[in-house]
Amino acid sequence: MPETARPTGKAARLREYLTGLIDGGLQPHDRMPTERDLAEQFQTTRLTVRRVLDQLGHEGRLYRTQGAGTFVSEPRIAKSVDLTSFTTDMRARGLKPGSLGTHVECIAAGAEVGAELHISPRDLVVHITRVRTADGVPMCLEHCYMPAALVPGLETLQWDGSLYEVLSQTYGLNVEKAEQSIRATVLGADDATALSVPEFSPAFRVQRVAFDARGRRLEFALSTYRADRYSYDMVIYRNP
Ligand code: GLP
Repeated sequence: MPETARPTGKAARLREYLTGLIDGGLQPHDRMPTERDLAEQFQTTRLTVRRVLDQLGHEGRLYRTQGAGTFVSEPRIAKSVDLTSFTTDMRARGLKPGSLGTHVECIAAGAEVGAELHISPRDLVVHITRVRTADGVPMCLEHCYMPAALVPGLETLQWDGSLYEVLSQTYGLNVEKAEQSIRATVLGADDATALSVPEFSPAFRVQRVAFDARGRRLEFALSTYRADRYSYDMVIYRNP
C-alpha cells in the first residue's frame, strides 16, 4: 500500500482542520495557510502537508497556483439527474400519461424483492403491474413492489393514475431519492406483446429502489421501456 494511502494521526488531524476551514467560512478562491505555517502548527513535515493538500486538490476542494499558493475551489456541481415519476416525465415531454391493464395484488415478497426492500421474503408486498402509455401508445411495462405494511389497503383502492401521487396524498409517503440502474435488453414474447412491438425488440430495463427522506425503502420497481419510443435525457456537467 503506498504511504499516502495511510494517513498518520497528524495528517488526519491536518485534513480535518483544512476541511473545517473550507466548509466553515472560507469562500471560493480564498487563500489557504501556507505549507510552512501548517507544518509548524501541526508539528509535521512539509511533505506531509503537501500530501494532504494534494489529496484535497484531487478531490476538487482546493487548487494550487505555482508561486501564489493554495486556494479554495468553487463547489462542485452535483452530478444529479432529476428523479421523476412516469407521469411527470411524460408531461415534461408534452405527452399525456396513461395506464393499461392495471393489476394489483398483495403477495409474499419472495427472495429477490425482499432483498431489495430489506424485508423478509415472507413479508407481504403490494405488486402493481401495468402498461404505461404516452398519448395512448404503450411506452413502458412496470412492475412495482411496495411493503404492504407501508401502504395498507392500496390493493383495494380505486385509482388509476400516478402511483407517486397516491403514495403522497393517501399515505403521506414521499419519494425523495432513488437508486437506479438502466441497462439494454431485448423483449421476450410476453413483454413484447404487452408493449405492442415484435418479439426481440430492443428496450431499456430500469431498476429502481425508491426511498423517502427517512431512508425507508418505499418501492422496488422494474420498468421496461420501448427503446424505439423512449430516450434517457440528462444535462451533465464537466467538473472544474
Ligand atoms: C417511473 C419509475 C417507477 C415508478 C413510476 C411512478 O416509471 N421507474 O419506479 O413507480 O415512475 O410513476 P407514476 O407516479 O406516474 O405512477
